[in-house]
Parts: sequence; structure tokens; C-alpha cells
Amino acid sequence: MADLKVNVIDHPLIQHKLTIMRKENTGTKDFRELLEEISMLMAYEITRSMPLKEVEIKTPVTTCKSKTLTGKKLAVVPILRAGLGMLGGIVNLIPTAKVGHIGLYRDPETLKPVEYYCKLPSDVGERTLVVVDPMLATGGSSAAALTMLKEKGAKSIILMCLVAAPEGVKVVNDEHPDVEIYTASLDECLNDHGYIVPGLGDAGDRIFGTK
Ligand code: PRP
Ligand code: URA
Repeated sequence: MADLKVNVIDHPLIQHKLTIMRKENTGTKDFRELLEEISMLMAYEITRSMPLKEVEIKTPVTTCKSKTLTGKKLAVVPILRAGLGMLGGIVNLIPTAKVGHIGLYRDPETLKPVEYYCKLPSDVGERTLVVVDPMLATGGSSAAALTMLKEKGAKSIILMCLVAAPEGVKVVNDEHPDVEIYTASLDECLNDHGYIVPGLGDAGDRIFGTK
């Protein structure tokens, strides 16, 4: 698929951990821990260009100029429920980030997203929102979540997913060209059930052990 706009974070640690997650025999505990670790590593990468300002501080030895984060504050917005698996790793790294929740599930028959919950920080328009969901498949859930957030006043949004299908990237690119997408892998395609190939199966079921 030509001209997809997506950032693949190909750090060796992320790729190694993702390989273990993909294996069908990897159990819930390991799957959950690996997702949390990868989310932290991905957050480290996507915050690489966050702006800094110089401040004057006093160390035990002297005063000096040193750098501190500036610019828009972050909020992390997991798409329920599988997105919750990516939250802990990010807030461990960025403990001041606020957290919003969006409840969406994909109807297994129509593959269309169904909304059931939305609770966001009140200053949503002043923050950069990092929307997290491990799977970007048809793109229906992520695109709907991004639309919901914009309707609530969001102006600056990043989408972070673990595995993306080209079909889903195209939908988000077309419907939300302003949203930068980060993923650990751009996989091959979707199968007839809307699952990512090779993918890792049903992320929510693997995180929460509900298979
Ligand atoms: C999964 C996944 C995404 C969505 C991706 O959630 O976590 O939210 O499917 O598919 P799409 O790109 O085709 O919309 P699911 O609907 O299985 O709900 P869950 O997180 O509650 O398990
Ligand atoms: N949702 C998942 O959890 N996995 C897929 O492959 C597609 C949608």
C-alpha cells in the first residue's frame, strides 16, 4: 500500500519483546509484562523531541543552569479495554501525565466500533494526547476514538499502537491526517475476520486471560 504515513519504532529491544508476545504459547503474565515494557520503550522514543527549557537550580555544590520539560503537558488515553495494557508502562515513565479513558469495542459481526465510555481530563484542549491501543486493524476503533477526542476539544493527538495493519494506517491517515501514528510493527494485512496477519491474536483476551 503506497504512501502510508506511519513511524515504525524498530529498536532491537522492542522487536525482541514483540516476537515473544506474538508466539501463541506466551501466557498472560508474560504477555502483559512485555506489553508494559514495550509501551515504556515506545514512550521513551516518541517523547524524544519534547521541548526543553533552561532553568537555574541549586545543587549541593553550586548553582547552575539545567534543562526541564516545557511545552504542552501530556495525557494518555487508552482505548478500553486492551489499551489499558499499555498504560502502566507509560505513566511509570511520565508520572505527571493525566489519564483519560475511551470505551470502544469492535462488533464481531460488523467489525464497526461501538462506543460505551468516555472520561477525559477537563483541559483536554491544552494537552498532547497519546491515544494507546495495541492493535490498529481496520482502523475503525482508533479513527472513532480520535473523532470523539476532537469533538471534546482535543487539538494535538498522537496514536501509539503495538501492531498495525496497512489497512488501518490508511483509514487513520485519510480520516485524521493531523495525527502522527507510532507502531512497533507494520504487519502484512488483515484476514477475513479483521485480524492482523501475522499479528498476535486478540490482544484484550491475551492481556486479561479471557479467551
Ligand atoms: C481490539 C483492539 C482495538 C480494535 C482494533 O479491541 O484492542 O481496539 O480491536 O480493531 P479495529 O482497528 O478493526 O477497530 P476489541 O474490540 O477486541 O475490544 P477489547 O479491547 O475490549 O478486547
Ligand atoms: N483486535 C485484536 O485484538 N487483534 C487483531 O488482530 C485485530 C483486532
